Amino acid sequence: MILAPSILSSDFSRLAEQVAEVKRGGAGMVHVDVMDGHFVPNITLGPPIVRSLRKATDLPLDCHLMIENAERWVDAFVDAGADWVSVHVEALVHLERTVAQIKGRGAKAGVALNPATPLSALEEILPELDFVLVMSVNPGFGGQGFIPSCLDKVRRARAQIRERGLSCQIEVDGGVDASNVAAVVQAGADVIVAGNAIYGQADAAAAARRLIEAAR
Ligand code: DX5
Ligand code: ZN
Repeated sequence: MILAPSILSSDFSRLAEQVAEVKRGGAGMVHVDVMDGHFVPNITLGPPIVRSLRKATDLPLDCHLMIENAERWVDAFVDAGADWVSVHVEALVHLERTVAQIKGRGAKAGVALNPATPLSALEEILPELDFVLVMSVNPGFGGQGFIPSCLDKVRRARAQIRERGLSCQIEVDGGVDASNVAAVVQAGADVIVAGNAIYGQADAAAAARRLIEAAR
């Protein structure tokens, strides 16, 4: 299991330090939540912050684009240093073209599904994906409760990937903490995003270690 702490819940005034802390705690990636105030009711950050983050850590940057017109921004985020880029199927008309664009730039391409979006939305594109981002909260905010029905969705995604002989990874994002992380990994998650469970604690490194322990 790869732990990808979400910086949304971190202290942006000491971002480099907060990322170094979770790296010490065993994190394998940094989850960067990009919100535009249109696709989701919140605004966070853009390419300038990713560019600074790129200088501050050698951890892969996992950019979750919760934005409209994501295809318009893929190049800017990859140029800024994004290694993984996920776009929301609900926010795009030309998904195949956008996934090809991400991969063409040498980044790993993922498609994010909101809780009520069925896996069938990925039927045609799944073989092209490096990962699927299964949202276990409604996007826009950190610190929300894990939506239990998403666990079965992760199981079904894992089963479908296995049946089709694909190498697509599964990332789960939202409301994951020490109480449910083992079940999420058991259901088939390869990458776990956690924001509040890590940065809502005084010691982010210890919180990351605890979450990794709890996943075992
Ligand atoms: C929500 C974001 C998530 C969120 C996770 O829109 O995509 O990455 O920051 O944070 P927690 O773990 O606090 O739910
Ligand atoms: Zn996210």
